[in-house]
Amino acid sequence: MNQYIINGGKPLYGDVTIGGAKNAALGIIAAAILTDETVTIENLPNVSDINVLLEAIRSIGATVDRVSDHEVKICGATITSEVVDSEYVQKIRASYYLLGALIGKRGKAHVAMPGGCEIGARPMDQHLKGFRALGVKCEELDGSIEAEVEHLKGSHMVLDVSSVGATINIMLAAVLAEGTTVIEGVAKEPHIVDVANFLNSMGAKIRGAGTNAIRVYGTEKLHGTTYSIIPDQIEAGTFMCLVAATKGDVTLHNVIPKHLESITSKLLEIGVNVEESDEEVRVVALPGTRVRSTRVQTNVYPGFPTDMQPQITAVLMCAQGNSDVTESIFESRFRYVEQLRKMGASIDVKEDQSSCKVHGVAAVTGADMDIPDLRAGAALTIAALAAEGRSVLSGIEYIERGYEDFDLKLRELGADIEKVPV
Ligand code: UD1
Repeated sequence: MNQYIINGGKPLYGDVTIGGAKNAALGIIAAAILTDETVTIENLPNVSDINVLLEAIRSIGATVDRVSDHEVKICGATITSEVVDSEYVQKIRASYYLLGALIGKRGKAHVAMPGGCEIGARPMDQHLKGFRALGVKCEELDGSIEAEVEHLKGSHMVLDVSSVGATINIMLAAVLAEGTTVIEGVAKEPHIVDVANFLNSMGAKIRGAGTNAIRVYGTEKLHGTTYSIIPDQIEAGTFMCLVAATKGDVTLHNVIPKHLESITSKLLEIGVNVEESDEEVRVVALPGTRVRSTRVQTNVYPGFPTDMQPQITAVLMCAQGNSDVTESIFESRFRYVEQLRKMGASIDVKEDQSSCKVHGVAAVTGADMDIPDLRAGAALTIAALAAEGRSVLSGIEYIERGYEDFDLKLRELGADIEKVPV
């Protein structure tokens, strides 16, 4: 176990390169086993969620050749089992993609109910609704899902909730179904488009990803491909908030500014300068100034991402005036607030956990904090770097699930942050 020791109050300056999108990579790794040919995935983030999923597919027989930190070759021809050990599944949410991929590949899957960050109930009903519409028999037994189908058949379905996981999972099963599948009410996040583009590069015929309805024309067979994952929207947004909170001047490289629009416009609104160019954004916040207060409501893409909600709250903690932050995707995503209060932040969470009021304070001071989940970990790091004095952050394994070399990238920008064993 490691901790971060942070001495805050220093602005961040310089350049940082954003890695590949974790949530796209998770869908893409699962999709890669759908073909018996070798698939090469580039711009892979080297974070623990990815490494757990690679171990999980290796455990069912896939050949996984980690060419380098950011490149992997996967061959699904050697897969011999459709039973995924709960050891892997319970560590990460995205193990649910192995259901869709194994249903598509072998017509059978036995996967434990997934783990992941505790930010709400996170049911799987929409995933199962989609599989059932394709003719799959799904049963939930002793904390596992067993799925079996003789012959996948395309169909028309309407999701009741725009779920990222369900949208990708249903695509994974539908690409090898007979006939056409139409999925309405889908999620539109950039990583959904990336998984669809990846599958299309393997010979799938998916149209409409990024809109409200996805059409999948089933194919008999998929082939190998080489594919580079899109940049991580949330890692980029996190660095943008880090600069806003520490009053620095940083250029982010390897980003898609279009994917950052909701974050960029919120930062502009509170007085932070953001300049976009082709694959870069420069974020500048003037030393000695305070950001303005605002209202933030999380929403499905292109709305403000729920995965950026804790980070923007950490920025607004020292705003001039009161801000309202409303969470509309998950039920319990404000667990980090009690940690921010230890620093002197003044934040009231509504009883039903749906929103919080952030009373901006002039300054906060370092504290010892426990990280409750991945994005909360990013928010507490932002707060600690903006605060005066020393903070100790425990539970950084959450951060390492989704941010590659976070402390190293921050040190290169001038932050005083050390990773030390406990
Ligand atoms: C994914 C992301 C996560 C992000 C979230 C929302 C991955 C691995 N994780 O999580 O980082 O915060 O999207 O952008 O990509 N729901 C149902 N029934 C279902 C599925 C979902 O009711 O069958 C609900 C959830 O409880 C939640 C909402 O739909 O309230 C959105 O969840 P979903 O988009 O599925 O999130 P995840 O796929 O779990």
